[in-house]
Amino acid sequence: MDSKHYYNPNGEEILDEKIFGGTPTGFVDFNRSKYKWDSRIYDLMNANTWFPSEVNTSAEKKHFDALTDNEQSIYKMTFAQLSFNDAAQEEYLSDFRQLANNRLLKSVITLQMMQEVNHSKSYAVLLDACGNSEEVFNLYKHDVALNNKNMRIAEQFARHIEGGSVDKMLASAMASVNLEGIYFLLGFAYIYVLGDKVPGARDMIKFIARDELNTHLPLFANIFKTIRKENSIDSNTIDLTYKMIQEAVDIELEYGNYLLDTFPIMGITKELMKQTVYNYANDRLRKIGLNPIFEESQTTYLQKLVSKHLGMNDVKSNFFESNVSNYAKSSIDLDDF
Ligand SMILES: [Fe+2]
Ligand SMILES: [Fe+2]
Repeated sequence: MDSKHYYNPNGEEILDEKIFGGTPTGFVDFNRSKYKWDSRIYDLMNANTWFPSEVNTSAEKKHFDALTDNEQSIYKMTFAQLSFNDAAQEEYLSDFRQLANNRLLKSVITLQMMQEVNHSKSYAVLLDACGNSEEVFNLYKHDVALNNKNMRIAEQFARHIEGGSVDKMLASAMASVNLEGIYFLLGFAYIYVLGDKVPGARDMIKFIARDELNTHLPLFANIFKTIRKENSIDSNTIDLTYKMIQEAVDIELEYGNYLLDTFPIMGITKELMKQTVYNYANDRLRKIGLNPIFEESQTTYLQKLVSKHLGMNDVKSNFFESNVSNYAKSSIDLDDF
């Protein structure tokens, strides 16, 4: 590796560092940010810091044992898939980070990686309390649909991550918009539908969902929009990003429909899942500056459940309460850059 990769006194000014391409000097200066959103999202991520030990999981096994067979299966299949998402995202971020030029943005991605690791740890803590950790982490070996969803997500991650052009970097950023904004959502919703029956899982998912939807999704939406603003992007690449979100919707609904066919539970229908995923996909497209392309419905019951738990008011943790004002302050205008 060239030493200029670490230190280049003749590199560009910090305020000139673009997301793609350039020659940074090597400094990370939080006081001089080219963008308004990057250091703000970093502060918000920090204010959002939580640890799995803050969630009370002492009665999780008792609660899990009281679920119906189908509810137990939904619980296990949900965590089997969500845990893959976070592990994959950590690895993807490490690769995506290498495509980036702006050092402050790279620092924000580093913090996001730590949060994804924290999510992986939280699944292990929860499932250990539930007494089925090994079983759940091994479900991919026995369940074709689970294995297929994981594989399709991995393939979308891998397709453009080698970089080499700004168009490939943009397509790679889209894969992350899909992960943060689509692949988690039905999983979150299932656990919220179980709700008070599994308070440990519900509270763990609340913390995870806040990270994904309040900071990680805005981060990648801003990355996507900024790459487009700073570069001339081929219209074929924009067409490709539409295809990628259509694929993401298909991946999410395929697994959702499989779970519902195999383990029907109260409160969920195929139509409800379709409307929910379509609405989320349209919202993600708007967030990245593209046009919604899916049939739009009224905000669904599942969306309302997810949104309800994104608020900070019902969090009981003292640690969180001490950070609420900070959180509220920094959550304004994340998309305004
Ligand atoms: Fe995560
Ligand atoms: Fe994330």
